[in-house]
Amino acid sequence: MKSVLLTGGAGYIGSHVANFLLDKGIKVTIIDNLATGNKKIVPKKSELYVCDISDENRITKIIKKNNFDMVMHFAGVVRVDESIKNPKKYENINFKKGRAFLKVCFKNNLKNILFSSTASVYGKNSSKKVNEKDKLKPMNPYAKSKLNLEKFIIKKSKLNKIHYIILRYFNVAGADKKLRSGMIAKSSTNLIKVICEVAVGKRKKFRINGNDYNTTDGTTIRDFIHVSDLAEIHYLTSKYLIKNKKSKILNCGYGKGYSVLEVLKNMNKIVQKKIPTVIGKRRPKDIMISISNTKKINKFIKWKPKFNDLNKILSSSYRWEKKLIKNF
Ligand SMILES: NC(=O)c1ccc[n+]([C@@H]2O[C@H](COP(=O)([O-])OP(=O)(O)OC[C@H]3O[C@@H](n4cnc5c(N)ncnc54)[C@H](O)[C@@H]3O)[C@@H](O)[C@H]2O)c1
Repeated sequence: MKSVLLTGGAGYIGSHVANFLLDKGIKVTIIDNLATGNKKIVPKKSELYVCDISDENRITKIIKKNNFDMVMHFAGVVRVDESIKNPKKYENINFKKGRAFLKVCFKNNLKNILFSSTASVYGKNSSKKVNEKDKLKPMNPYAKSKLNLEKFIIKKSKLNKIHYIILRYFNVAGADKKLRSGMIAKSSTNLIKVICEVAVGKRKKFRINGNDYNTTDGTTIRDFIHVSDLAEIHYLTSKYLIKNKKSKILNCGYGKGYSVLEVLKNMNKIVQKKIPTVIGKRRPKDIMISISNTKKINKFIKWKPKFNDLNKILSSSYRWEKKLIKNF
């Protein structure tokens, strides 16, 4: 892999992957319209085009000027709550614009695609740890828009010589060791981001959305994956795709869940104070437990997580949040 076209590189996950690839000596060209992204986390060694993914003319020119051997598509909108209020926005950006972008790639002979999908395509599932063959029951417009683009890619790959990696991320968290990047979303609903914002005084209280679930402590359980491990997965799976030309759908998680209360208690220890907390009601359609079955990904890539530790995830997120106060 020598040269990657990466959309959404001014965002949280895209910028981490861009840094990872650049550290490996790979050329990275970024397309981002800066809708939710920020130039400050775009790696300096990358080439940034401030451009919408639906801008066919500009993207065609960018592709023709370069010699990309891999496309990684991260750009999109990511808030479940917003998608419930404004489903059309999600269908438009994540599905329709995503589809338009990929059509331009296919037309210009770019045939190795990695797509950032989400574990929320599984919805409420009966399996304890969800695997890639489990039923797909997206429960909100965000998840539906991501699944629609998955289906488009799969359909296209059957008709043309297109190969894909679809990564279904579980809960992504943490920040780069060197603090080159981290989560920048404003008014985020991400659990760890919100806890960090309370810890640094940006928000008054952390609200637990329901403590009456059928789990050991009554709060929901999630599988948190450190963004730097996730970045490495992008590198390894893309190399796999280029070498083997075999399309795969892969879960990205550690296969271990932590409850909201466990996350909170660990964070209290890290910041050495009690984070102000209130107990609220359940959010509609919230899933009780979401944990990845990791067998498939471990079969295809030699991946040894380096940051598989809740404290590493929490402390890097906290350090990043403190940096954000000074620099953004
Ligand atoms: N953060 C998570 O926990 C998580 C979990 C599962 C899946 N994902 C997926 O990962 C991807 C990246 O998520 P993130 O958390 O880094 O989000 P983010 O909001 O930080 O990054 C998204 C980036 O896409 C850009 N963008 C949005 N619309 C665009 C458009 N029309 N044209 C060009 N650029 C556009 C934004 O400016 C931003 O820089 C998304 O596709 C998301 O669905 C994220």
